[in-house]
Amino acid sequence: MIINLNKMSFLEKLNWRYATKVMNGQKVPQEKIDNILEAIRLAPTSSGLQAFEVLVITNKKLKEEIQNISFNQPQVSQCSHLLVFAAWENYTEDRVNRIFDLTNEIRGVKHEGFEAYRKKLLEKYSQCDAETNFQHAARQTYIAFMAAMAQAACEGVDSTPMEGFINEELDKILNLREKGLRSTLMLPLGYRDVDKDWLASAEKIRKPKEELFTIIE
Ligand SMILES: Cc1cc2nc3c(=O)[nH]c(=O)nc-3n(C[C@H](O)[C@H](O)[C@H](O)COP(=O)(O)O)c2cc1C
Repeated sequence: MIINLNKMSFLEKLNWRYATKVMNGQKVPQEKIDNILEAIRLAPTSSGLQAFEVLVITNKKLKEEIQNISFNQPQVSQCSHLLVFAAWENYTEDRVNRIFDLTNEIRGVKHEGFEAYRKKLLEKYSQCDAETNFQHAARQTYIAFMAAMAQAACEGVDSTPMEGFINEELDKILNLREKGLRSTLMLPLGYRDVDKDWLASAEKIRKPKEELFTIIE
């Protein structure tokens, strides 16, 4: 079945995407990868801090090594590009200041209110323990993660949202703690193997909207 993605609405594309279980190893063109990464960059985050980094892995050996600590999920090595989302393990003064300084530099103005907000944030995060700050940063990765998945669908690229791996092991493999980061999510990008993936033709399962939404007028 040939699908023309250009004619699909955004909702139809979200319906087209699914958590791909088997990929065919085909390479995703760089332009599509760039667009997916740009969607991550444009994702909104708390106070605009973008408290995470994303690693883009194409190295075959490394993908295989990561598959070993991902309950052997085959997409990890079958994918074209493996995205690893890694949140700040803590907020630091430098990290918070970076985005405020960048804003001042780009907009070319220094607002009193904005500077007061910077001070407030620096105070707030310094009062919280590292785990609380990491959990807050980790939540931001989920927002960017969804942006990546949606953009992938718009590009006709398959993906698999993944929490199914041993975070501490992945942190070690990628030396994330040395960079002040901790892994939260992985997103293999590639193309579905329609013949081998039973889920490719399965009906999408979602609760009826009555169970999900409460309308308060
Ligand atoms: C945060 C998150 C983690 C997930 N982890 C895995 C995973 O490790 N492996 C996997 O095959 N699917 C994983 N899934 C896929 C979900 O099971 C799937 O998205 C859900 O059943 C809805 O189906 P659909 O994405 O195919 O529409 C994950 C999804 C999310 C959002």
